[in-house]
Amino acid sequence: MRARLIVATRNLHKVDEIRSMLPNYEVCDLSAINNPPEVAETGETFLQNSTLKALAISRLTPELVLADDSGLEVDSLDGAPGVYSARYGGEEGNDALNNEKLLKELQGIENRTARFRCVLVLAQHGKALADFSGAVEGNILEAPSGVGGFGYDPLFAPEGYQESFAELGENIKNSMSHRAKSLEKLTSWMSEFLK
Ligand code: IMP
Repeated sequence: MRARLIVATRNLHKVDEIRSMLPNYEVCDLSAINNPPEVAETGETFLQNSTLKALAISRLTPELVLADDSGLEVDSLDGAPGVYSARYGGEEGNDALNNEKLLKELQGIENRTARFRCVLVLAQHGKALADFSGAVEGNILEAPSGVGGFGYDPLFAPEGYQESFAELGENIKNSMSHRAKSLEKLTSWMSEFLK
């Protein structure tokens, strides 16, 4: 029987990506928890926010809980949108507004280097067991392109590619993404420390 892992997020795109990259686990979303609370992301770093989410949910279940806090850092915007990635355009989780604002902020700016960063926190019984981070470097395109993925994927071309993550599709994204890199560290940690 596969061990269960509850992902502490309402973002089902994240859950799908994590599920496809963790075939040896039964990856569940928050519907596995009765009345999960809204966790305010009041931290100033991905690690702080990921820890807040993991601990809040792991107090409600004896199962392993995984939180993912992630976002986009654009060099010429001093690292913005960063931890505010989900609400950059002014409305939580509105990808279209977020992408629109990003393009506006970058209008006329030549340096478009950026990275996606992901910090995972694994928790159980209200305690953080470990954290894992990963990043992927790339460039922000001049216009959105492609229909795959979520969030800023239509605007982000990973290093070495002209196409966005949304055009490249899930297999290529999941072979190199920030989330893939942090999940790789998580799986090797779990195979060593969780028997
Ligand atoms: P969180 O739920 O606070 O971690 O918000 C993460 C936000 O960062 C998402 O709403 C997206 O806007 C952005 N983001 C994180 N990971 C990705 C990704 O893999 N592709 C595109 N956007 C992402």
